Amino acid sequence: MALVNVEQLQVTFGEKTAVSAASFAIEPGETFSLIGESGCGKSTILRVLAGLQRQWHGNIQVLGDRLQPGMRFTGALRRNV
Ligand SMILES: Nc1ncnc2c1ncn2[C@@H]1O[C@H](COP(=O)(O)OP(=O)(O)OP(=O)(O)O)[C@@H](O)[C@H]1O
Ligand SMILES: [Mg+2]
Repeated sequence: MALVNVEQLQVTFGEKTAVSAASFAIEPGETFSLIGESGCGKSTILRVLAGLQRQWHGNIQVLGDRLQPGMRFTGALRRNV
């Protein structure tokens, strides 16, 4: 099972689309690089995966948990992330 699975992630700030359709999976033990020009949405993706950016669309699983837009990270998910 992937540690992180992101499918069709979209994040918008008003009219601005910060992330339009990001999809990737990270397997245990894998080294994964997220690269791209300034402003392409790298930090926004990581803020979603850290539970800091709660408004998003798409499908995300982190450490076996399915994330829901708006959710606060608590318990084991919060500790492990
Ligand atoms: N809170 C916010 N409100 C409005 N726009 C935002 C917000 N956060 C990010 N953005 C915009 O979303 C886009 C993606 O920003 P982000 O910081 O994710 O890019 P980045 O790839 O991390 O850039 P850099 O390489 O400069 O760190 C940019 O156009 C940015 O201005
Ligand atoms: Mg950044």
